[in-house]
Amino acid sequence: MLVGYVQTEPRFGQVSGNLQRALDLLEDAPGELLVLPELFTTGYLFASAAELHDLAEPADGPCVRAVAAHCATRGRWVVGGFAERTPQGVYNSAFVVGPDGLVGVYRKAHLFNDEKRWFLPGDLGFPVFEIGGVRLGVLVCFDWCFPEAARSLALAGAQIIAHPSNLVLPHAQNAMVTRCLENQVFVITANRVGVDDRGAAGVLRFTGRSQVACPDGTRPLVAPELGECHDALEIDPGRADQKWITPRNHVLEDRRPDLYGGGSSSG
Ligand code: ACM
Repeated sequence: MLVGYVQTEPRFGQVSGNLQRALDLLEDAPGELLVLPELFTTGYLFASAAELHDLAEPADGPCVRAVAAHCATRGRWVVGGFAERTPQGVYNSAFVVGPDGLVGVYRKAHLFNDEKRWFLPGDLGFPVFEIGGVRLGVLVCFDWCFPEAARSLALAGAQIIAHPSNLVLPHAQNAMVTRCLENQVFVITANRVGVDDRGAAGVLRFTGRSQVACPDGTRPLVAPELGECHDALEIDPGRADQKWITPRNHVLEDRRPDLYGGGSSSG
């Protein structure tokens, strides 16, 4: 399967321009599965709940419909992050769209910093979607910091994890190598570049370096820190079904949940 990322530079609030730019890059990009960044049409640094509400759209809105039209003509799958407006509020979500339209939605479980002021935390768990015989899971950006999220997807059979991101810390790209090793899966991180300068609401610079990481801990594709780009490479998703990391160590069956305990968030 030819898989890759599209690294974009959204301009805050310019939803239709950002969407068109992403579609132009997609049009130019080879690949059967391509991943776009988190919130790639809206930008990231919201100043109020009202602003987010106005920029958000439902899962059957113009953004998903436009990407679905692209996928129908190109016969491919695309994952991308969007602000999902629902009757109960706005989620930081990602769509999975294919040649036949919307396959499903994942809602970010672990909200980062000020996202907790604006977004609802994800309520859909960690679903695994079937795309052309391949099992695909999705994490959004800061989900990287919670190994349980990638583990849940691996236990549910995901072979590839799509990871739309708006990374501001330098850690996730390295952490995803560990997520790949400990779960024996592929991870495609699509990060954005550029700056959201929102004046009094703050300034954030995003770190680029989108990547594809593999079950053997290698990163055959790494994008630059600056600039829009796309890249793709051929992988064998079936490699992720092989969970033996030594002849005597299976990364899922060797777990010791009897020792781990339930844990407590109150610490
Ligand atoms: C992040 O979760 N967008 C840092």
